[in-house]
Amino acid sequence: MFKKSVVTMLTLCAFPSLASTIGIVGAMDVEVEALLPKIENQQVTKVGSHTFYTGTIEGKEVVVTQSGVGKVNAAVATTLLIQSFGVDQLIFTGIAGASEPKLEPLDVVVSTSLVQHDVDLTMFGKPKGELSGYEDRHFYADKNLQKYAFDASVAVLGKERVYQGIIASGDQFIANKEIVTGIYKEFNAMAVEMEGAALGQVADAFHVPYVVIRTISDKADGSAEMVYSELKKATADNSANITLNMLKRM
Ligand code: ADE
Repeated sequence: MFKKSVVTMLTLCAFPSLASTIGIVGAMDVEVEALLPKIENQQVTKVGSHTFYTGTIEGKEVVVTQSGVGKVNAAVATTLLIQSFGVDQLIFTGIAGASEPKLEPLDVVVSTSLVQHDVDLTMFGKPKGELSGYEDRHFYADKNLQKYAFDASVAVLGKERVYQGIIASGDQFIANKEIVTGIYKEFNAMAVEMEGAALGQVADAFHVPYVVIRTISDKADGSAEMVYSELKKATADNSANITLNMLKRM
């Protein structure tokens, strides 16, 4: 008990007043591995099972972390970034399945809002995706960060591959046409992934602005698995490159 609180205090004291620090989160190793070598004056800090890489990229103070897959991991990483590392802006970078049928692998979606497709309190009169204590099922991305992310995406990919819209998160890898169509129809979501809305919910709770950038790695239907494995690295790197370009502009 004593040991834990000392570690926490040391962690908090180690980063006392990092004004304007950007937290960057990816779920899997492929989603952060293109970023880590770009961090200058890199320091590595472990808190519990989470590892944080602090330093600068493009002259901006950053803290990069691999959250692990799923909403709980994303929520833990986001909370630590805000509470222990003092980040005041958040970018999620990674890959997603397409739920909007016109999207193809290598297209990119910049979040306007995030929603949890696996939340269901409809028994209590709530719309699908909406939690108790909330009047809206969406967690809204920051407008400024959306603009930076959009401009960076266009610079990296060209504007015909860049979309802005709702991203739906849930603790499932979606690989079924009926399920993905259901999510598209219910939430009008462009992409499905497993972390963004959790980051959004935590960031909102602490009034920290955020945006999620997702490159499409698969169509989230029956064909998902093969395309996903083939494109995982290239699509993850694509989002990382957009994040780097975005940092230059911020
Ligand atoms: N991330 C990448 N593809 C995905 C999918 N089909 N479902 C959930 N998360 C994903």
